[in-house]
Order: sequence, then C-alpha cells, then structure tokens
Amino acid sequence: MQSVFVSGANRGIGLEHVKRFAAAGRHVYAAVRDPLAADALTPLAESGQVNLIAYDAEDLGAPDRIAAALQDKPLDLVFNNAGIYGGEKQSLAGIDPEAFMTTIRVDALAPLLLTQALLPNLRRGARKIIANQSSRMGSIADNGSGGFYAYRAAKAGLNMITKSLALDLGHEGFIVVALHPGWVKTRMGGPRAPVDVGDSAAGQAALLQRLTKTDSGRFFDYTGAELPW
Ligand SMILES: NC(=O)c1ccc[n+]([C@@H]2O[C@H](COP(=O)([O-])OP(=O)(O)OC[C@H]3O[C@@H](n4cnc5c(N)ncnc54)[C@H](OP(=O)(O)O)[C@@H]3O)[C@@H](O)[C@H]2O)c1
Repeated sequence: MQSVFVSGANRGIGLEHVKRFAAAGRHVYAAVRDPLAADALTPLAESGQVNLIAYDAEDLGAPDRIAAALQDKPLDLVFNNAGIYGGEKQSLAGIDPEAFMTTIRVDALAPLLLTQALLPNLRRGARKIIANQSSRMGSIADNGSGGFYAYRAAKAGLNMITKSLALDLGHEGFIVVALHPGWVKTRMGGPRAPVDVGDSAAGQAALLQRLTKTDSGRFFDYTGAELPW
C-alpha cells in the first residue's frame, strides 16, 4: 500500500491512522475540515509525507473539488472515517429531525459521494480498498438495546452502501469493507471507552493490510473478527 486517503484526519481514530500510515512510509492524503487548524498534522505536512485536503462532509460539492485537486494520483485505500454521533435527541422521547438528516448526510451519503469521486484514483492504485468506518451500532442483527435512531440509521445506511459498492465494483478487483473500530477513547467515544485509539488503529491497519478479495462486502471489528450485518 503506497498511497492512502483518510477523512476525519485531524483527531481521534483518523489522526492515529494518519500518523501510523506516515510512519510506515505511506503517502497520506489527510482530509480535514480546516487544514489551517490541523495543528497535530502540521509537522507531517511540512515533511511532505502528508497532504492536507480541505473536506467538509456536509458540503456536497467537496468530493468533486478533491478529485480535481488529486488529478490522476493513484490511491490504494480510501478510508471514509469522518463521522458524527448525531446529538443528544435520539430517543423516542425526542428526535431532532434536522440533526437526524445531518447525521445521515455526514455518516452515509458523504462517504458514498467521496468514494464515487475518487474511483478513478482508486482504479489507478494497486490495492483498490474502500474502508468505511461504521459502527456495530449500525448492525441490525446486533441491535439488542434500541434507541440511538440517527446514529444507528446512518451507520446501517453506510453498511448497505458498503455492500452495494462491493457488488458493483467487485469485478474490477475492488475490496470494500465496513469496519467497527471498537468503543474507543476519543471525543466521540468518551473517557470511559475501553479501547485505546492506538490499539484500535493498529488492529484496523493490520486488517487492511491482509484483506483479500474474499473479504469484500463484509463487516469487521478492529480485531479482525467478522460482525453480522
Ligand atoms: N470512538 C468510538 O467509540 C467509535 C465507535 C464506533 C465507530 N466510530 C466511528 O469512528 C469514526 C471516527 O470517530 P472518532 O471516535 O475518532 O471520533 P472523533 O474524535 O469525534 O472524530 C471525528 C472526526 O470526524 C470529523 N468530522 C466530523 N464531522 C465532519 C464533517 N462534517 N466533515 C468532515 N469531517 C468531519 C471530525 O472533524 P472535526 O475535528 O473538524 O470535527 C473528526 O476528525 C467515526 O465515523 C465514528 O462514527 C467511533
């Protein structure tokens, strides 16, 4: 894997992936909302190992602008990692319709549009991997506690998008997977989360490295265990 694209790269799991990919000698396109405020990535950007890319998942015009900027650069991996939880009003006691739609837009539609725009770059890459950072909260089979309507619906949508991409692109040699990073200590996961960001990213990176075409269209946690849809 030579060249990778990671969204949501300025903090949390995305930032950890960028650091690890860069340390492993990959060239990284790190997509962040505000490149001028991505302080944690400045040293890597200055060294030339990382290209900072402006990307707001709510901006539906962003994917085409990014594709135009990348021109014909090959990508081995597009890692759709950026995501939001969807706010507090996600129970039957109160749903915030605007927040619900924003969550669907950021967590499901945006990864699809970004992937679509970057297909020409992936076609030039050797590995052709699309990794969608989902959550086991998006698993219908695993839903044993209800609630969390916006986040669950958005990640379930991302899971379905993952499966369709795998079917639509399989004949071209693409590998498309949905991933669950674990419950991870980040701003989203909170301080009580049992998994450190380093362990999550290391497990996901090892999994990405060993993926083969038979893994496409499947859902894996950070240890490599398969999850039910
Ligand atoms: N942490 C967990 O326990 C856990 C569990 C399951 C799944 N996940 C998934 O893992 C992914 C990363 O989560 P995390 O824990 O690292 O969360 P995090 O620390 O909250 O980071 C979220 C990242 O997404 C970016 N982002 C949010 N909205 C965006 C938008 N509209 N456009 C572009 N980027 C946007 C954020 O950028 P800004 O800094 O600009 O806001 C940030 O880089 C998410 O998809 C999340 O759903 C996390």
